[in-house]
Amino acid sequence: MILVSGATGTVGRPLVDLLLTEGADVRALTRNRSSAGLPDGVEVVEGDPSRPETVADSLDGVTALFLHPRAVGDAAFEMVELARAAGVRRVVALSAANIDDDPAEQPSRFRGDRNLEAEQAAVDSGLEWTSLRVGSFAVNTIGMWGQQIQAGDVVRYVYAGFAESFIHERDMAAVAARALLTDEVVGRRLVLTGPESLTHAEAVAVIGDVLGRQLHFHEITPQQAVARMTDHGFPESFVTVLMARYATYATTPQLPPTGDVESVLGRPALSYAQWVADHAAAFRA
Ligand SMILES: NC(=O)c1ccc[n+]([C@@H]2O[C@H](COP(=O)([O-])OP(=O)(O)OC[C@H]3O[C@@H](n4cnc5c(N)ncnc54)[C@H](OP(=O)(O)O)[C@@H]3O)[C@@H](O)[C@H]2O)c1
Repeated sequence: MILVSGATGTVGRPLVDLLLTEGADVRALTRNRSSAGLPDGVEVVEGDPSRPETVADSLDGVTALFLHPRAVGDAAFEMVELARAAGVRRVVALSAANIDDDPAEQPSRFRGDRNLEAEQAAVDSGLEWTSLRVGSFAVNTIGMWGQQIQAGDVVRYVYAGFAESFIHERDMAAVAARALLTDEVVGRRLVLTGPESLTHAEAVAVIGDVLGRQLHFHEITPQQAVARMTDHGFPESFVTVLMARYATYATTPQLPPTGDVESVLGRPALSYAQWVADHAAAFRA
């Protein structure tokens, strides 16, 4: 039995689907069963892994745990210890490529994500472990540009030349499934990226190509971007650190493509154009 925390999220949903396709027994954790919308064939368990005492019963018979840093919050070590005590043999942690950076320079920490702790809890667990250090999720670009592209052809955003290697969530899920189901990547810290490095302006052009529209990237100042993003509800501390990251790597990619997805899956990572095609509705009016 594989227990998936964060099962209703960006990575969790395609992971649950893939594990079911592979014929695995899957138990999915959610804080709210009635809104989880998980597929038939998965055992859905209500609980909050950031309060491990609420999920202790869900560990019965579990052999491998997918540890999700946002879902588990500050309780990664406690959750993994509970899993070990319950007889779980393997833990696969979702984490982030930037966890060795100064914590003050990691935007996600200012949203409460504990990617470093998720990896560390897995490594220190005494269990078989794998850490998935992920670069930039392609799905971030819906939040960055989705509303503007729904509304018109001009995208106002910062740092036209800043480049990311956006990764498709299906690739993260496929690598996670491999780590949970086989022994191929035990004890490894994989750095997962998409197959190509695209600047902000290039990525917007890819969206335009897929939608059959000519989009224009209009560069705004970091001050304007901070105002816009805080108006949309992002914490100011998060946005400020994000802008500092953009400034530091304005012309040189922080994380070029690594090839780890391809080396694990034996096929190239999915392109950003593929990801846009799979999510075109998010950019259409
Ligand atoms: N975005 C990026 O570019 C990037 C890059 C590298 C690493 N990461 C890391 O990946 C993680 C995000 O992955 P994701 O997009 O799959 O997450 P997500 O979809 O936002 O959340 C996964 C699930 O966790 C539960 N959850 C969300 N917030 C919670 C909270 N505050 N307390 C308890 N449970 C909560 C929810 O499940 P229920 O409501 O069903 O309980 C949710 O469906 C973060 O740690 C992030 O820092 C992100």
